[in-house]
Amino acid sequence: MSAPPKTRLVVDNAEAQAIRHAVAHANVRLLGAQYVIADAAHADALVRLLSDPRVSDPIYDLPRPVTHANVRRWVADARLAHARGEAILCVMLDAAGVATGYSYFTIWPQFSAAEIGGAHRADGQSKGLGGAGALRSFGWMFEHLGVRLICLTAARNNVRSARLITHAGFRPMGERVSTRPDGSTRESLYWEMTRDEWRARYPAG
Ligand SMILES: CC(C)(COP(=O)(O)OP(=O)(O)OC[C@H]1O[C@@H](n2cnc3c(N)ncnc32)[C@H](O)[C@@H]1OP(=O)(O)O)[C@@H](O)C(=O)NCCC(=O)NCCS
Repeated sequence: MSAPPKTRLVVDNAEAQAIRHAVAHANVRLLGAQYVIADAAHADALVRLLSDPRVSDPIYDLPRPVTHANVRRWVADARLAHARGEAILCVMLDAAGVATGYSYFTIWPQFSAAEIGGAHRADGQSKGLGGAGALRSFGWMFEHLGVRLICLTAARNNVRSARLITHAGFRPMGERVSTRPDGSTRESLYWEMTRDEWRARYPAG
């Protein structure tokens, strides 16, 4: 399960409510034409995507085992959390309706903070798609969802994620223990970036 950020910003009720509203009404097409909010109709496509260990192994907060029942429950829970303004589960679909990736945004409106996790299908990895998509997603989280802090984790051996996150300008803040849905744990590297840091680094958005 995603853990809230190490840094706790002071957030008043109006800001938290604005974030909840922005999340519940978010336009995921701004992330790319292939992004849609996942619903029950995408469960089969997500099972096919996540059944590949090259996609799912590095990610601690996925439903396991990757069965239809578990993925359907994950999608349904994400939709309930979306309505509360606390999560967005997107699936990326090609023209044939096959999933080429997914992104899961966890939002803590009470801390004005968010996290993203996700993956590309194996044939789309290591081609620059992740780096480009992550930058678009970070900007969207800060400017469209309105959070003031993004926190990220990655497995210690996830070289691509670490490079991508460092390249984007996140501050390394040590390690933390991530807890999987089955209660087992994983040591993760941990980073944060504030919206002010983002805007200073990417003034054009
Ligand atoms: C992690 C992931 C989203 C990254 O996306 P990607 O499209 O594969 O990565 P990119 O091609 O954009 O490369 C990202 C960085 O890794 C580097 N990289 C790419 N392939 C690499 C490889 N095989 N070995 C080492 N570094 C590599 C790139 O040079 C780039 O570094 P830079 O920003 O310093 O130039 C993608 O690999 C993926 O879906 N992996 C499986 C699931 C996963 O790990 N999710 C993230 C959990 S935190």
